[in-house]
Amino acid sequence: MLNKLQEIKSSAVKELAGIADIAALELWRVRYLGKKSELTGMLRNLASLSPEERREVGSTANKLKNELESAYQEKEKDIEEARIQAASAKETLDITLPGRRLPIGHVHPITQTIDEICFIFGSMGFEIKDGPEVEQEYYNFDALNIPEGHPSRDDMNSSWIDYTDDKGKRTMLLRTHTTCVSARNLANLKPPIRTISPGKVYRYEASDATHTSMFHQIDGVAVDKNITLADLKGTLYEFARRFYGPERKARFRCDFFPFVEPGVEMSIECAVCKGTGCRLCGYSGYIEVAGAGMTHPEVLRSAGIDPEEYQSFAFGIGIERLPMLRYGIEDIRLFYSGDVRFLQQF
Ligand code: DAH
Repeated sequence: MLNKLQEIKSSAVKELAGIADIAALELWRVRYLGKKSELTGMLRNLASLSPEERREVGSTANKLKNELESAYQEKEKDIEEARIQAASAKETLDITLPGRRLPIGHVHPITQTIDEICFIFGSMGFEIKDGPEVEQEYYNFDALNIPEGHPSRDDMNSSWIDYTDDKGKRTMLLRTHTTCVSARNLANLKPPIRTISPGKVYRYEASDATHTSMFHQIDGVAVDKNITLADLKGTLYEFARRFYGPERKARFRCDFFPFVEPGVEMSIECAVCKGTGCRLCGYSGYIEVAGAGMTHPEVLRSAGIDPEEYQSFAFGIGIERLPMLRYGIEDIRLFYSGDVRFLQQF
């Protein structure tokens, strides 16, 4: 009997060594450890043996059963590991490759510029105030000393909204400048006032390298006692110095706007030609970036502010021109073309 067990052991071990898949392993298990296997049969028949034989054969047979069971488990593990290795070799997955980056959007250069300007004026004590893009005729024109029939209404190329008052007159338009928000600020706030109002403005006109029918402005207004033109110039020079750096020249010249008296314009040396003259600056070497002036007494009066008691300056900055000058961009339409090759540069 002990010889028989030895035979079973050697043939089981030999056979197991040649097994390489789960199906063959299962057949092996049935043959050597299954209910009908020789070994199980011998263990079942121990009772028919003499006590001495039973002890010896029993312990040897049980030992063999344990050995075969653990050999079986080991083999099962080896086969599973080999299967995983073969599968991953076939997949050729290189887990050391870096992941693919998702494209990340960023802030539009015009918005970046507005944020930067708001930060500069904010640090000078100006408060940011929003207003509606669909504006009342009153704030866009009348409150700014531009009554009906005033020639400067025609210059503004307004887009009127299809909405009429009870007299059948159109009174709403897409704001043509952000100065209307300054008019609202004057009417709604109590002096001293210092506000800046950035946003979109609209003009009904054809687009070219320097014009689009929608563009951006920031309008600022300051009201206090004893404010003079020197305060206005100091404020705008400081802005130009902070925005462009101290080397870039800025100059003021007389200009006319109905809502200021006197009126001025501020120009900055052209970045493309460095002041020698080019297509962008109309061969003048300078580009106008802001209109400004001392707020007209009529405008203050319309807002309920006494011009004898308070003085005020105002300014309006065209946004698009600032990054155009700074980076030497020659066509304003690039900002709104949606071309990421252009936009990604900022
Ligand atoms: N609103 C003017 C425009 O769109 C710009 C402007 C000029 C604004 C003078 C001002 C100012 O506040 O004082 O052309």
